[in-house]
Amino acid sequence: MAGLRGRVTFGAALRAYTSFRIGGPADALVEPADVDDVRRLVVQARKANIPLFVVGGTNLLVRDGGIRGIVVSLAKLRAVHEEPESVLYAEGGVGMPTLIGYAIRRSLAGLEWAAGIPGTVGGCLVMNAGTRLGEMKDAVKAVRLVTTNGSIRDLPAASIPFQYRRARLPKGIVVGVWLQLREGLRADIARIVKDYLHYRKETQPLAMPSAGCVFKNPPEDSAGRLLEAAGVKGMRVGDAEVSTKHGNFIVNRGDATADDVIHLIQKVRRVIQQRAGVRLELELKIVGEA
Ligand code: EPU
Repeated sequence: MAGLRGRVTFGAALRAYTSFRIGGPADALVEPADVDDVRRLVVQARKANIPLFVVGGTNLLVRDGGIRGIVVSLAKLRAVHEEPESVLYAEGGVGMPTLIGYAIRRSLAGLEWAAGIPGTVGGCLVMNAGTRLGEMKDAVKAVRLVTTNGSIRDLPAASIPFQYRRARLPKGIVVGVWLQLREGLRADIARIVKDYLHYRKETQPLAMPSAGCVFKNPPEDSAGRLLEAAGVKGMRVGDAEVSTKHGNFIVNRGDATADDVIHLIQKVRRVIQQRAGVRLELELKIVGEA
């Protein structure tokens, strides 16, 4: 960790860094102070052969044994600035809600689809986050990456293959994203965001710890609809529960473990396979040791 200016916490409980409020310890949790610090960390970790894992923390289930090696949080990389022609540059750790607020103040349209997504810009980019109104790939102009040898590489969006809930990026850490927005009317943008937030609050359990949607939507269908039709809403293992509000959310009622969540996922998948003949694919990323 020599020369790092950011914060290092040994044995950090990752439940504090995930929206699910679940997860064992990281050997070390590092919060780099800036992009140069990220570069330093990457170079040194590589030399010492220590694996790095970046947590955004929202679409993630960390197992109860935690994560070996270094877990990186980009929480301190949260600068945003405006560039000509309606472009915003946001560092990887900027929260989507913050970015949407910034866009509204500058009367820039193009991020309304993301209203209610709690994750960071970097996290949303890596998984091509989306809702029924749009997805990350529609707004991205370019991406700044710290590569595995510690250099900076800027990738135009056109060179990145985006898939459903996934962006295929070269190995590295996303430290910034350029978003191509467009001028709009502030009141209109703010109203769409407000309406969409309202819709999400009505239909999703946003007040309870969760990791967002657990499964990808099967082609032409909704996992939430399938799960509701199969009658699994309210199903529980320990303190993990299939939300009674939206079938594609699992909520933590207090002390759920990763093990509880994984068992619940298995149960739910079996029911859907039997009742609907569909194998649900995980959207949630499961990492760490049991
Ligand atoms: N539905 C039910 N029961 C449920 C949930 C949904 O019948 O328990 C029905 C709804 O009535 C509606 C349809 O299923 O007719 C679709 O539901 P919804 O509008 O809630 O959208 P979704 O397809 O279930 C997607 C995203 C969400 C995003 C919402 C809102 C995926 C897997 N899910 O859900 O994303 O918030 O649209 O735009 O793409 C996430 O990715 O973490 C996530 C929550």
